[in-house]
Amino acid sequence: MDSIRVVGNGPLNGRIPVAGAKNACLALMPAALLTEDPLVLTNAPRLSDIETMTLLLESLGAQVSVADQSRTLTLCAQDITNTKAHYDIVRKMRASVLVLGPLLARTGTARVSLPGGCAIGARPVNLHLQGLEALGARLELRNGYIDARAPNGLRGSRINFPLVSVGATENLMLAAVLAQGTTVLENAALEPEIVDLADCLRAMGARIAGDGSAVIEIEGVDRLRGTRHQVIADRIEMGTYMMAPAIAGGDVELIGGRRDLVESLCDKLEATGVVVETTDDGLRVSRVNSRIRSVNVVTEPFPGFPTDLQAQMMALMTTADDRSVLTETIFENRFMHAQELLRMGADIRVQGGTATVTGVDHLKGAPVMATDIRASVSLILAGLAARGETIISRVYHLDRGYERLEEKLSACGAIIERLNG
Ligand code: EPZ
Repeated sequence: MDSIRVVGNGPLNGRIPVAGAKNACLALMPAALLTEDPLVLTNAPRLSDIETMTLLLESLGAQVSVADQSRTLTLCAQDITNTKAHYDIVRKMRASVLVLGPLLARTGTARVSLPGGCAIGARPVNLHLQGLEALGARLELRNGYIDARAPNGLRGSRINFPLVSVGATENLMLAAVLAQGTTVLENAALEPEIVDLADCLRAMGARIAGDGSAVIEIEGVDRLRGTRHQVIADRIEMGTYMMAPAIAGGDVELIGGRRDLVESLCDKLEATGVVVETTDDGLRVSRVNSRIRSVNVVTEPFPGFPTDLQAQMMALMTTADDRSVLTETIFENRFMHAQELLRMGADIRVQGGTATVTGVDHLKGAPVMATDIRASVSLILAGLAARGETIISRVYHLDRGYERLEEKLSACGAIIERLNG
């Protein structure tokens, strides 16, 4: 297993290109199952999760070809030869459950393995299943698989989500676009990835309105056509790299950065004393004073502070000037990075969903272990600011969500290298 070595080397200066959004791409790719025509996705990120989704779609009979150094994906599901999403693939990546809605809509049948829990929480899919049942699907849980049938097709319905779920909103959008009649999704997720998926589905001929608000209305159509769609910029990658000059000092420009995608983070960074400017090419982040101010953060669904940036913010707060309280409201176990940051000399006290971080003068490099995608990158950020060498093990987590991270950071002056395990 590879690990990554980081040596604290002072301020970062340079430019970092922002890739296409992993979490948008993972919802866009299953849309190819809804039509016999080719779906072309450009600006796709080169990540192991995208490779996993590709394998899954190919196992269902789709053809997937890549071009432009894997940034352009052409997906074509002219014939769906298999409607079973195997446990071996689903257990590696929870987003696999997003093939359930489109498979049901296109073929009337699907067997998808239950994803099972993961490091950050139980992460059930009950809202996905309840929503599909509301559209007329008959679901049974058998041997760890969701056995879904809709022999007479899906019928539009009004669905009110008891809590905001990005994945359930996406799965129901992917199902409702070919249902008979109109579907209304209430308490839908507002994330930009939802709007990106709606934009793509509309270009394919779907009738969708209200995406980006809490009520999405979908009028089912008989068939969808292919289209060419550019994947939206990755706001979590963008936000992560914005915190690199914040923690290590310096001045970095995010090429393709968009403030509207990371507004809540920009507000928090500016409250710490970091400067965020919009430039012709994106966003510029600089840290001018010697120490940043502590701020409190509560994670919330978009447009609130993203849970996917909480670990990175915790790393940033470890060397701030006072005490900060981080409250994680989305997942029940998303503080595993705290233990690893403590090994680097941080002062963090975790109580349930709240972590209190008291700033220390500096962190010290140490061997640490990644536990999930965002925890791993928070340790990289900490290593950039720490005195000495930090070795982060189990970086396969990192490769799921960050493309060429070592290259992007070393181009800004970081001392960072991958050690082949
Ligand atoms: C998406 O996961 C993202 N993944 C996650 O990013 C992100 O953290 C999350 O949304 C929240 O923004 C992808 O888009 C591939 P949810 P998802 O359904 O859809 C509970 C990363 O690091 N819930 O919005 O699985 C759930 O347990 C990943 O890139 C149910 O109870 O998240 C959680 O507590 C990590 N029942 C809350 O809702 C359900 O049926 C929000 O989950 C579904 C969800």
